[in-house]
Amino acid sequence: MEITCPNCGFQRTIDDSKVPSRKAMVHCKSCGHRFPLKKARSIAVLLSKGGVGKTTTSVNLAAGLALEGKRVLLVDTDTQGQSAYMLGVKPKAGLTELVTRELKPKDAMFKARDNLWLLSGGKSLAGIKRMIDRKDFGGEMTLTEALAPLEVHFDFIVIDSSPGWDPLTVNVLFYAKEVLIPVSLEVMSLQGLSEFIKSLQSIKKYRKEVGIKYILPTFLDERIKNPGEILEKLRTIYEQYLCPAIRYNVRLSEAPAYGMTIFEYAGGSTGAADYKGLVKKVLAEDEEEEES
Ligand SMILES: Nc1ncnc2c1ncn2[C@@H]1O[C@H](COP(=O)(O)OP(=O)(O)O)[C@@H](O)[C@H]1O
Ligand SMILES: [Mg+2]
Repeated sequence: MEITCPNCGFQRTIDDSKVPSRKAMVHCKSCGHRFPLKKARSIAVLLSKGGVGKTTTSVNLAAGLALEGKRVLLVDTDTQGQSAYMLGVKPKAGLTELVTRELKPKDAMFKARDNLWLLSGGKSLAGIKRMIDRKDFGGEMTLTEALAPLEVHFDFIVIDSSPGWDPLTVNVLFYAKEVLIPVSLEVMSLQGLSEFIKSLQSIKKYRKEVGIKYILPTFLDERIKNPGEILEKLRTIYEQYLCPAIRYNVRLSEAPAYGMTIFEYAGGSTGAADYKGLVKKVLAEDEEEEES
């Protein structure tokens, strides 16, 4: 990876494997300045089921972290390419061009907002899936090879994923360390959740760094009794991962048509308040780590 000294601007390349942890001290060979080399936290928003709020969560979590001054890269691994739509931008390139090395990272990424960059998804990702399939070995590391060198430039890498289970989903799980699972309380999706967790466990056999970090109930409608029951079950089974629920909020479904995040479209809405809560929860983890 390329690193730049914040003191004198001297650039050098260091071997990724020589950076032991998410945070390490680096010594500038030119001016002698010592500075922390902080690597991004990688959070994948995943669940095999569609329509549970994955893209809404990825976009608003990424935007919320960026508003808090964090440098965020949002990576869209879905062929539907909804993240760009939700942010109201039309990048000419994205994740495909980064993975195929057609473009350098700085040209593949699109600056969507202050502190927020996007590696957009879309139909061209189908070619990446074929590329992964054709590799004799190491196909599951394709995404990691593309994203790991970018980690020093960001505080967070948030990954939106497609419904279903395909070579790119496996790649996401071989790359990200933290998994955030949105669970819709509108439909009985607990079965989908336990199946997904089983698949995640099978990946964990090969890659122990990855694990469930957050379970985020979505579409909470306080007027309906049933969501309460699902929420209770979630609380019993997955208590340590459970986040406060995102309520059903019509503003969240309206915002994408205007190409705005919930904070831009309806900053005073319950949707904005709930996603702000999630941002705080994710950041609280950072502070704990810094204190330790
Ligand atoms: N909490 C919510 N309240 C109301 N509508 C929501 C909420 N979360 C998501 N939506 C809407 O539901 C639809 C599906 O959400 P989306 O994030 O695209 O799900 P996924 O990415 O899992 O398929 C979108 O139209 C989105 O705007
Ligand atoms: Mg989606």
